[in-house]
Amino acid sequence: MTAVPIDAPDIMAQIERALYDRIGLDASTVGSSLVHRAVYRRMHARGVASVVDYAWRLAAEVIEMQELVEEVVIPETYFFREPEALDAVARRVCAASPRASEELPVRILSAPCSTGEEPYSIAMTLVAAGVAPSGIAVDALDVSENAVRRARAAIYRGGSFRGDMQPWRRHFHETKHGLALNADITALVRIVRGNLLDPEFRTPRSAYDYVFCRNLLIYFDADTQSRVLTMLTSLLAPDGILVVGAADTFAVRRAGFVPVPGAERSFLFHHRPADAVDLIAAPPVPRTKVVASRVKQRLVATTPRVSKPSSRLQPVAAPSVVAVPGRQHIDEIARLADAGRLADAVRLGEVAMSAHDASADLLALMGTTYDAINEQSRAEACYRRALYLEPSHADALLHLALLMERRGDAAAATRLRTRARRTLDGSKGAP
Ligand SMILES: C[S@@+](CC[C@H](N)C(=O)[O-])C[C@H]1O[C@@H](n2cnc3c(N)ncnc32)[C@H](O)[C@@H]1O
Repeated sequence: MTAVPIDAPDIMAQIERALYDRIGLDASTVGSSLVHRAVYRRMHARGVASVVDYAWRLAAEVIEMQELVEEVVIPETYFFREPEALDAVARRVCAASPRASEELPVRILSAPCSTGEEPYSIAMTLVAAGVAPSGIAVDALDVSENAVRRARAAIYRGGSFRGDMQPWRRHFHETKHGLALNADITALVRIVRGNLLDPEFRTPRSAYDYVFCRNLLIYFDADTQSRVLTMLTSLLAPDGILVVGAADTFAVRRAGFVPVPGAERSFLFHHRPADAVDLIAAPPVPRTKVVASRVKQRLVATTPRVSKPSSRLQPVAAPSVVAVPGRQHIDEIARLADAGRLADAVRLGEVAMSAHDASADLLALMGTTYDAINEQSRAEACYRRALYLEPSHADALLHLALLMERRGDAAAATRLRTRARRTLDGSKGAP
């Protein structure tokens, strides 16, 4: 292969494009030199002499793309960064009714989490505010394997601590590598690797009460910001709140988010399409009415806390549970879905639906499970069957509303939410 000048601009532009496609990094925003330096470092590490040769490797080796990603990401973060948001969320969680508990934990996603300082700060703030640890469920993800590894290790030094850490010192202990977070805090945070731009992107749970997406949108162009915000919206509970960084507010306002009343300076936003019915109570009543409805409908323990399709399908045991109709099916299906075994959950649910008269609860659960594996038409059919059996089934109404919204049918979504609200308000709301 003919050697080309090391700074081959057209090939560099292709590499920039590949990074844009992979993780959304906009070279014109962060500066092309960041990408160029990263490419040269990788060329050096691989002993590759020309940009063209490197581009070949990049195209051919999945692992090399991840190595390049590791070079370009900006993992800048520290404990208790922009603490107003943490305090505002803690206040809302404490004021919520019902209180966060083991059965109804407050669900929080930190995406991206970088090396973990953000999700651990969230957990420490909630504990300090008096939230029961069993009621705290924080998920965290980042595209960088290095960052995720360090987040899981939870040992920190220097730059992670800026500001007064004395009040939080009790949560750390000394090690020869630095200050390690105590297990009672790390146990509250689940950390996974995830790329917000990956079409297969999944999170460990769904229906988050709060999604933190801070200091990432600034590296994206408007298209990517909008894609990511649409996706994050789909992860939020109907009255869930998006928490962004001070620098991200322009992007979220442009995407139709509005500040949560009373929390404007903490950068808490909720999504309210212009014609959507407002199911969001004024603060401080953050825990969802949806959750309350689930309690009423005995679904809370059984609705998958997911939209977590695991790409790794595992063999499912013979569904002995099928012989037992009713709650057992729902519990078992939800258990599988909660464990990320969505293919198994679907399989068992399908057997259950064909073996028995499916209940509205089972159908609604199957709807969310299909939804989680992106089988939208099946999900819709399940929700509609659930509503045929039980026209005021709040879970089915709200999930179908979300599905309609994703499909762009805002009017149908609004009608469904109106019906759901009647149910949630305790009226006999019928279609
Ligand atoms: C500046 S840090 C922000 C961390 C934390 N949210 C904060 O505000 O302190 C940005 C992080 O975004 C991650 N990142 C970049 N692109 C991503 C993507 N497409 N999906 C997930 N994480 C991404 C990077 O690896 C990096 O750790």
